[in-house]
Amino acid sequence: MLILNKTAGVFSKPSKRKVYEFLRSFNIYPGTLFLHKLVLGIETSCDDTAAAVVDETGNVLGEAMHSQTEVHLKTGGIIPPVAQQLHRENIQRIVQEALSVSRISPSELSAIATTIKPGLALSLGVGLSFSLQLVDQLKKPFIPIHHMEAHALTIRLTNKVEFPFLVLLISGGHCLLALVRGVSDFLLLGKSLDIAPGDMLDKVARRLSLIRHPECSTMSGGKAIEHLAKQGNRFHFDIKPPMQRAKNCDFSFSGLQHVIDKTIMQKEKEEGIEKGQILSSAADIAAAVQHTTACHLAKRTHRAILFCKQRNLLSQSNAVLVVSGGVASNLYIRKALEIVTNATQCTLLCPPPRLCTDNGIMIAWNGIERLRTGLGILHNIEGVRYEPKCPLGVDISKEVGEAAIKVPRLKMKI
Ligand code: KG4
Ligand code: ZN
Repeated sequence: MLILNKTAGVFSKPSKRKVYEFLRSFNIYPGTLFLHKLVLGIETSCDDTAAAVVDETGNVLGEAMHSQTEVHLKTGGIIPPVAQQLHRENIQRIVQEALSVSRISPSELSAIATTIKPGLALSLGVGLSFSLQLVDQLKKPFIPIHHMEAHALTIRLTNKVEFPFLVLLISGGHCLLALVRGVSDFLLLGKSLDIAPGDMLDKVARRLSLIRHPECSTMSGGKAIEHLAKQGNRFHFDIKPPMQRAKNCDFSFSGLQHVIDKTIMQKEKEEGIEKGQILSSAADIAAAVQHTTACHLAKRTHRAILFCKQRNLLSQSNAVLVVSGGVASNLYIRKALEIVTNATQCTLLCPPPRLCTDNGIMIAWNGIERLRTGLGILHNIEGVRYEPKCPLGVDISKEVGEAAIKVPRLKMKI
């Protein structure tokens, strides 16, 4: 049985609460006017236990998060049963905290929205079973959320962005390009054929033992690479971007990872150091891998923009490219993408870093978007299952490849 406080304990000032509740019964909110919908969002698809309460206009009433990054950094990657255990230990506290900070009573929620796909099975399971108990206890509608849809729609919480827009989602677990035509209407233009760019950067950082580097020991792999790259010279290593001949919008990062692995091995031999020690050329390698990653992402995105414009899927004069996911916080990669958007007369938009990475706000906001459009709101939760693998939208990547659009060369002077 869940012990979420419905009334007592949630509020520090009961008298204020009574006033708020009274006002809300007339759809009047203190400080704002006529807000109707409030959604609790719950996210546990990977290694963050997160929850938030968001209202119809995108106001974040409360948020809480428990990150497992530190634990997984020590083990050199996410061990699913460990992630599951940590989600179990934290979910009740995190949800309670998000509600308490919001100063709302759970009975005021319009719905509960939870990530049910895609992600780590053991992690998704914790969020889903907790949410279903809560839904049952509070008798609220349930909104199952696709994690990637939530990432893609986050920009509409922070900026006034109309459909359609193009989105590039790049993180440790995802890499895709999609055209967003509506809340639940996506065309998938391309995706990584193997690993995601964040995963590759994490592996390179681990191989370079950056966790032992005094400036990088608490950083994620990608962040450590970005940090070190600033001190390096990318021209010391010539690493070619992958898939140069494939005229589609798919990505690949595992070949790149192997090339870098080989380069590191060779350098270790040359410098006469053991695996696990930090190479003197680590910063140069970081700069080269970051540059090649940026060029690869930029090229495929450039082709996606040209494809969408050619097919009239995006506005000719006012097209928007949204970039999100943990890797989108990399400023070097953003600059590369800016070169592309400048060359194609597009506007580049990124959510603020805290909303680029996994969070509860994006899930709650996706719930609001779905409530507004009346899409996928469940009043009966029987048969709801999590789905570790789940594509996003209609896959037209083959058609994109068949169009074989040649991308003009851009000078990547970053
Ligand atoms: O979105 P996120 O928090 O989680 C998922 O993977 O879903 O993204 C985490 C990923 C990690 O692979 C991390 O190394 C990468 O984003 N990352 C970065 C940067 N900060 C985080 N990659 C490149 N540059 C950064 N500054
Ligand atoms: Zn994510």
